Amino acid sequence: MSLPGRNISTADLAAAFRAVHTSAEKPVFVDPFARVLCGWPFRLALACPPLEHALNRLAHEALAPITMSIVLRARYAETALERAVASGVGQYVIIGAGMDSFAFRRPEMLQRIEAFEVDHPVTQRKKLLRSRKARLTIPQQHHLIAADLTRTPVTEALAGSPFAMSRRAFLSLLGVAHYLPREALVATARSIARDLAPGTRLVVEYLLDEASCGQGGIALRAKMLEFVQSRGEPMRASYAIDEMSALMVSAGFEVMENLRTGQLESAWRVPFSSTPPETLSIFAVGQFRVGGPSA
Ligand SMILES: C[S@@+](CC[C@H](N)C(=O)[O-])C[C@H]1O[C@@H](n2cnc3c(N)ncnc32)[C@H](O)[C@@H]1O
Repeated sequence: MSLPGRNISTADLAAAFRAVHTSAEKPVFVDPFARVLCGWPFRLALACPPLEHALNRLAHEALAPITMSIVLRARYAETALERAVASGVGQYVIIGAGMDSFAFRRPEMLQRIEAFEVDHPVTQRKKLLRSRKARLTIPQQHHLIAADLTRTPVTEALAGSPFAMSRRAFLSLLGVAHYLPREALVATARSIARDLAPGTRLVVEYLLDEASCGQGGIALRAKMLEFVQSRGEPMRASYAIDEMSALMVSAGFEVMENLRTGQLESAWRVPFSSTPPETLSIFAVGQFRVGGPSA
C-alpha cells in the first residue's frame, strides 16, 4: 500500500467524519477522541465554526453514503463485539485500525478483554504520535502491532504478541478490504480460519462492485474511487454480496450475516439524507464465523 507522507489519509477522513457525526442530533456512533486523532488540517477545521459547518454538510449531505458507512460499520462491529464478549470471547483484533479510538473510548471493555490493533506501520506511527501529543496513554490491555497485510498474514503478525491463538477472538476489518488486493483479503481470511480457534468471528466491511450499486450510487462510487486514487490510496477490490459470502466460505468461514450498509441505516432508523439508503448503498458489511467442532 502506498501511503505517501501527505497530511490527510483516508484514515484521517474517516476519523473526521466520526468527529462531525458525534455532534449530530442523534449520533449512531459517538467518538469523542476522533477530533484529536484526525490530524491537524481537520482538527483546525473542526475548531472553526464555519468550516465545521461546511464539513458537517459535506459529511451528512453530499457524502452521506460514505459517512453512513463509516459510522454504521463502527456501530455494527462494536455491537457484534459486545455480543461476542457476552458469549465469552476475550480478545478483540482491530485490523487496519486507522484512527479508531477503542483504546481510549472503551475502558470498561478493556477490563474484560485484551485488544490488539494490527495496522500498516505508517498509519500506526502517525496514530501513536497524535495520541502522545494529546496525552492519551495506550492501556496495558491494548496492544499495537505494525504489519503490512500484503506481506504478512494477520495471524503471523499476532504470533509475536500476547494474543492466544487457541482462544476464540473477535476481529474487525472496517474500511480496509477495498484497499487490499483480492489475494491479500483471501490470504487474510484464510489465515484467520486456519490458525484461530473455531467460533472466532470476523466483521468485514467492503466496497460493493458497480453492478451491485443503484444509479445514484454508481456516480458517487466513481467519484470516490477517483478521489482516493488521487490521494495515493487506491481502492483495489470490490465485491458483490454473494461473491463475498462465497469467498469467506471457501476460506473456511460460515456466514452469520452479510448485507448492504444501507439496510443497517433502515434498521436503526437513522436517515442521514432524504435519499433512500437502498439506492445509495455502495458498501456492505458481513459477519463470519470460523467453523469447526466447538464453533
Ligand atoms: C480508511 S482507513 C480505515 C481505518 C479504520 N478501520 C476506520 O474504520 O476508520 C484504512 C486502514 O487500512 C489500513 N491498511 C490499508 N492497507 C493496508 C495494508 N496493506 N496493511 C495494513 N494495513 C493497511 C490503513 O493503514 C488504514 O488504517
